[in-house]
Amino acid sequence: MNNNKTYSVSETKDVETFFHGYAADFDSIYGHTKKRSVWDKFLDKYFRRSMRLRYDLVMKFTADKKIQTILDVGCGGGVYCEALLSAGKTVTGLDIADGMLKLAKQKTKKFIEQGKVKYIHSGYLEYDFKEKFDTAALVGFFDYIKEPLDVFIKLEKETSKELLMSFPKSGGFLGWQRKVRYKMRNCPLYYYSKSDLELLFAKVGWQNKVEIINIDRDFFVRVVF
Ligand SMILES: C[S@@+](CC[C@H](N)C(=O)[O-])C[C@H]1O[C@@H](n2cnc3c(N)ncnc32)[C@H](O)[C@@H]1O
Repeated sequence: MNNNKTYSVSETKDVETFFHGYAADFDSIYGHTKKRSVWDKFLDKYFRRSMRLRYDLVMKFTADKKIQTILDVGCGGGVYCEALLSAGKTVTGLDIADGMLKLAKQKTKKFIEQGKVKYIHSGYLEYDFKEKFDTAALVGFFDYIKEPLDVFIKLEKETSKELLMSFPKSGGFLGWQRKVRYKMRNCPLYYYSKSDLELLFAKVGWQNKVEIINIDRDFFVRVVF
């Protein structure tokens, strides 16, 4: 496998700016922070089923007792951090957007005090971990990543047991309106087909370790090392 770094950090500033400003709105999808508008409630009901499905899968796979330490990459407002901590796991949440991390810290205050969670304000490719985690969860993260291979190569070094990741599919009304909405706010957005994913996993040598689960608007991917 080619191990040359082709890290693309040029777009991360745009992603950071977008999510710093979008933090409360994004969090409200889960029923936190701000009240949802009628339009948002409509979208939630008909098009955001994937968010529930991928959450259920992360909780199901991490319920295994062998999984104790979890790296939540692009942890956002901390919905997963809070749920994983409540399930008894030790969590490290990393996010590029400070506004998101502030919400995550509010939600998990008691676990911070207990030393069960720490947060890192950084882009993933820009931060090197010294330790290895049992699992890394990357949910709603690859939507903003130009070079997923660079992320895979790094994840393989920093994770010992498994990866849980979501990849958005293109197409459909929500896909189209989301693309327009993000473009207007200068935030890059990437979609994936199943064959894109198979090619990427073959390039990184994971073709026999990967399970691709079709869930509504996303592909949910589990890699077991
Ligand atoms: C759609 S949110 C998902 C949050 C959370 N994982 C969830 O599913 O509720 C995506 C998050 O990824 C973060 N993010 C995007 N690109 C990143 C990068 N290169 N490094 C770290 N975080 C990043 C964003 O700031 C944002 O908080």
